[in-house]
Amino acid sequence: MPTATTTSSARASQRRSADLEAAIAADPGAFRILTGDRPTGPLHIGHYFGTLANRVRLQDAGVELMVLIPDYQALTDRTATAQLRENVFGLVADYLATGIDPARATIFAHSQVEALNQLLLPFLSLVSVAEIGRNPTVKEEMAATGSGVMSGLMFAYPVHQAADILSCRANLVPVGKDQLPHLELSRVIARRFNERYSPETPFFAEPEALLSRAPLLLGLDGRKMGKSLGNSVPLRASADETARLVGKATTDSQRLVTYDPQRRPEVSNLVLIAALCRDQDPDDLAREIGEGGAVALKAVVTEALNERFAGIRARRAELAADPGYLREVLAEGNERARAIAGETLADVRRLMYMRY
Ligand code: TRP
Repeated sequence: MPTATTTSSARASQRRSADLEAAIAADPGAFRILTGDRPTGPLHIGHYFGTLANRVRLQDAGVELMVLIPDYQALTDRTATAQLRENVFGLVADYLATGIDPARATIFAHSQVEALNQLLLPFLSLVSVAEIGRNPTVKEEMAATGSGVMSGLMFAYPVHQAADILSCRANLVPVGKDQLPHLELSRVIARRFNERYSPETPFFAEPEALLSRAPLLLGLDGRKMGKSLGNSVPLRASADETARLVGKATTDSQRLVTYDPQRRPEVSNLVLIAALCRDQDPDDLAREIGEGGAVALKAVVTEALNERFAGIRARRAELAADPGYLREVLAEGNERARAIAGETLADVRRLMYMRY
């Protein structure tokens, strides 16, 4: 259950996000975005409508976009690393296929940026163990596994995320509501660093959350949509796989298709997916299907997905066939991120009198 304060601060963030959109439109060059996805599996349609399309929109509006692949964070909930490489390059292909332009945007893996990781040390000195322990993600993990099992890396996770953001001097982080507490901690760390080591002129800008306006999609089984839950449609899925996945989706036994997310979450979710694909109003789309029932609905959803993603899938297949190019894009992104984070670390050391 969200507490009263988190919901009111979420509402404040929503209002702030509207102001930020206006500021971005007026002066896109004043913003640098950092965003990213853990390399735990291929990106799916939920990512596309929830965040990828928005990133491309902001990039095309002239905002500087940095896309981070937090590969160390993949170790917070799994120990095996054999899949990492494939997942990382899979993400790079997903990004490029959806329109992230490596000539303008920087795609990088945080394990390759030494200065970013080194910032974790001074940042850890700025927060207390109790403060980290109050972070909802850390708290949930502690409740799920017990503090005797949780790794130190998992515990440091929100501080590591602050190092991601602040090492790049990013001032804008597009997030879902669940990430707001992480961002709040990044702001606290920026503020405390400034107070302690740079009181005259604040060195770090406090990064701001840009809340997504996109509606949240459910998984095809009605649960939360997840990369590794098998209940999504991956961007790279073929037309046949899409038909198979949609065919298995949970529906109900009413023939009349309606858009009523409260009472009919699964059916409405399918209506919403098709409506997003076609840029159509979900109520209109539901009316179009009318008494067609689940069979007609699933046929519409499958076709809408396959049409909307045909171009992205074709581009993705071409990219996947050219691993040398994907490596080059990531290597260049890593290099750019290293330059930026290296400069930040040099400044941090100077401000901390650690130049010898
Ligand atoms: N924690 C984010 C997630 O699980 C991923 C992430 C790591 C991130 N570092 C970030 C997102 C910095 C934005 C900015 O989805």
